[in-house]
Amino acid sequence: MKHFLKLLDLTGDEIVNLLNIADQLKYETKNGIAHHHLAGKTLGMIFTKSSTRTRVSFEVGMYQLGGYPLFLSANDLQLGRGEPIEDTAKCMSRYVDGIMIRTFKQSDVEDLAKYGSIPVINGLTDDFHPCQVLADLMTIREHRGALAGLKMAFIGDGHNMANSLTVGGLKVGMEVCMCMPKGYDKLHPDVIAFAKTQPDFTIIDDPVAAVKGADVVITDVWSSMGQEDEAEARKKAFAGYQVNDELMAHAKPGANVLHCLPAKRGQEITAEMIDKHQEIFDEAENRLHAQKAVLLTLMGDKK
Ligand code: CP
Ligand code: NVA
Repeated sequence: MKHFLKLLDLTGDEIVNLLNIADQLKYETKNGIAHHHLAGKTLGMIFTKSSTRTRVSFEVGMYQLGGYPLFLSANDLQLGRGEPIEDTAKCMSRYVDGIMIRTFKQSDVEDLAKYGSIPVINGLTDDFHPCQVLADLMTIREHRGALAGLKMAFIGDGHNMANSLTVGGLKVGMEVCMCMPKGYDKLHPDVIAFAKTQPDFTIIDDPVAAVKGADVVITDVWSSMGQEDEAEARKKAFAGYQVNDELMAHAKPGANVLHCLPAKRGQEITAEMIDKHQEIFDEAENRLHAQKAVLLTLMGDKK
């Protein structure tokens, strides 16, 4: 594994291996066992979009691994004034040992990896959010003891989270049901092509049917970063797609609920659901441990 750009690039075994490392790092973190495996290493973190969890967990994660994180707002970089990705990649490769980037276009992340000579990590694009889904899988395994054979139902927009959940879930052997209103079911063509080769994938528009027998129900905002202008139209299109008590009554008893956060309480999920399903905050915490596993695997001396 040279980069962490999208889960389509990884095998199921590679994903599970990252989860195993993440579990170990979580144990060490909780028990005060130092793990400064990236001492002397630096991570450049480029943000073109806002972030709470991704920024803080990567920054703290690098510190806990003994390394040094640099927060780089794209607006303050020459990148924000139009310097090409190619030149940015080549220059940053001379200074830092790895780059984490959150931006709009997946092609920018892929180009950073192509033109640079250091590992690149995707911290969210319009197409994918692989770090989040690694944390989601870690959380599901923690709460349910396994992944293979479980049913994941996603109720929401066919955007970055839906794409990465489809791939991540299927690669670790889960049954994946994606549920989206018509017109918002536009998963990435590469995701659809992969999912169609898998026996346990469905894409439907009926939330009740989707959550039937689900072990875990996942949702995300109806309007993602960059879609703010569509918020009113989307509120109408997604009415009836809220994760609430009524919908969860159709899932497996004791099913888990996940949300990558930030949530719009009262839209895609009720406030009561978030308060009842505190595993959502385990999911947020697990960003830290899962990303440390990625950093170690990409930037550690043992490849
Ligand atoms: N879930 C997630 O990526 O959160 P942030 O946007 O706060 O980083
Ligand atoms: N789909 C959301 C996820 C935020 C973590 C967005 O892209 O804004």
